[in-house]
Amino acid sequence: MTTEDKNLNPQENFFYETGIDFVSQDTLNELLEMALNLSPELSFINRPWRKIAYNSTPKIIEEVVKEHGGTTRDAREFVRRRLIMARELGTPADGVSEIVIDQYRIPKRIAEPLAKEVSMLLDIPLKEIDPIVQIQKEGTLLYPHNGHARNSSIFCLLQGNGEETTWYDETEPFKMFDMYRIPDYSKLKVATIAKLQEMKWSTFNHHAWHSVARKGQPERWRVNLNIDFASLSYDDLMEKIKNVRKTSST
Ligand SMILES: [Fe+2]
Repeated sequence: MTTEDKNLNPQENFFYETGIDFVSQDTLNELLEMALNLSPELSFINRPWRKIAYNSTPKIIEEVVKEHGGTTRDAREFVRRRLIMARELGTPADGVSEIVIDQYRIPKRIAEPLAKEVSMLLDIPLKEIDPIVQIQKEGTLLYPHNGHARNSSIFCLLQGNGEETTWYDETEPFKMFDMYRIPDYSKLKVATIAKLQEMKWSTFNHHAWHSVARKGQPERWRVNLNIDFASLSYDDLMEKIKNVRKTSST
């Protein structure tokens, strides 16, 4: 379905400020505190594709790709795609360094009531809902990528540095690799750019290619709370959000 069919503002295909308070301000503050103190209540989520960084050598890339069932050819394609992005978006030599995201599961005492609330409000099965906290400590660019374990989510920036999120459209299709979602940047074009607001809930289209950039190293850690929906499509999420807004405004 195209944007026109649904009469959406084109930007709403990528993110949409919901105006809904899914979580109390006290809980948001508590989660931010926990993140800034790296509280032991947060549990680190390990992700295998983190082993490939932008400064990994082709040899390391090949090893990791093969470890996860890929071929030498796949590894070469990864290297090629990385080179295109380095050329177009920059490398440490240009003052551009990769933003690395640490991802954490939040304690059950917060996650469970939060998931229940979202489940009821949006009529989404509990098993679909996975709240996580993400922390970015350094770097200037999160290179274009798309979601691994999630399709759509609602996103709340707890603290940032005025970063810009860019979403892209594909100008022509290209092969996707499951383990490491690196795009062929020569086939992407910018669709929309947004500065997400602190302490406000937006929808977030993880399925579309996106990147995050800031000018220079961060003054403070960027922390966000994400409520991921495992298989719910972005369009279905938007419909549910708009239904909540309709019900609450009548
Ligand atoms: Fe992302």
